[in-house]
Amino acid sequence: MFQSQHILSIATMGMGDIDFILREAQYIDKQPNYYHDAMHREVNSGKKTQINLFIENSTRTARSFELAGKKLGLDVIDLAPNASSFSKGETLLDTALTLQAMNPSILVLRHPESGAAHFLSQKLHDCAVINGGDGTHEHPSQALLDLATIYKFKNPDVRGLNIAICGDIAHSRVARSNIELLRQKGANLRLIAPKTLMPRLPNYPNVQIFTDMNKGLAGADVIMMLRLQLERMSNNFIPSLAEYYQYYGLTQQRLKIADSEVKVMHPGPMNRGVEIESAVADSLENSLILQQVEMGVKVRMAIIYALLSRKSMFEYMPK
Ligand code: NCD
Repeated sequence: MFQSQHILSIATMGMGDIDFILREAQYIDKQPNYYHDAMHREVNSGKKTQINLFIENSTRTARSFELAGKKLGLDVIDLAPNASSFSKGETLLDTALTLQAMNPSILVLRHPESGAAHFLSQKLHDCAVINGGDGTHEHPSQALLDLATIYKFKNPDVRGLNIAICGDIAHSRVARSNIELLRQKGANLRLIAPKTLMPRLPNYPNVQIFTDMNKGLAGADVIMMLRLQLERMSNNFIPSLAEYYQYYGLTQQRLKIADSEVKVMHPGPMNRGVEIESAVADSLENSLILQQVEMGVKVRMAIIYALLSRKSMFEYMPK
């Protein structure tokens, strides 16, 4: 049975629940329509409300949670399409009280402060909180969809797979969640970034640190590129965008250093010509970037279904 009451971080989730979500996402991928029926039978989903509260901008995550909730038959409302009054100095506690009055069953929260989702999860009753990204802390559903994408399009097991995470690791909640998930799953992780964009990390046995991208990419099976998060930088962490591209941009030329069947990922939004060359981003052979978006809806359906039903939909699958 699914245990988690909320999805706040990969670090607190437990491998049983992680595998549960990944397995359910595979069922949905094969039989999306049965999931909708299962949801209705289990949780009378039409009467449940999902609130999306995104205090920071988002395209993929917000729309994919919206689509996921709607596909499962929930009433989905977007509480802050323009970040509205929630960013006008309202405290998180007031936000919690406002939300509670609307009685949601699911709250998807994106917030600039690390720990915001955890805080709200303690204040709300009868509501599962999903962290859609909190400051530079975590973005658990992104890591889960990234792994589901690797399972489907690269290899159904990441043990021993060489996975490089490149770019602005210090400011990236996506990287933090992915590092936690992939190292627990036994991948060989290479973290590649200039010194100024590399966070301090514990000494993990299967995580290597590189400042030279050409060395870090050698023989990589999967490359996860990260956006340069200029909005989170208070100082000049890099000399110039052009220089950054020269040393850390993923170009077709550089891709040759990796394994010949390498797959390239990016959570979006991409800065073409800053961290990735267009020819790489659009490569039909190497890029999984649009597959990540597609898998995102399925993984988020799996998350919402698991939180509301605590069951596997397997019993509803046609045998
Ligand atoms: C990321 C985010 O917002 O954390 N994007 C996403 O959710 N798909 C990464 C980013 O903003 O660069």
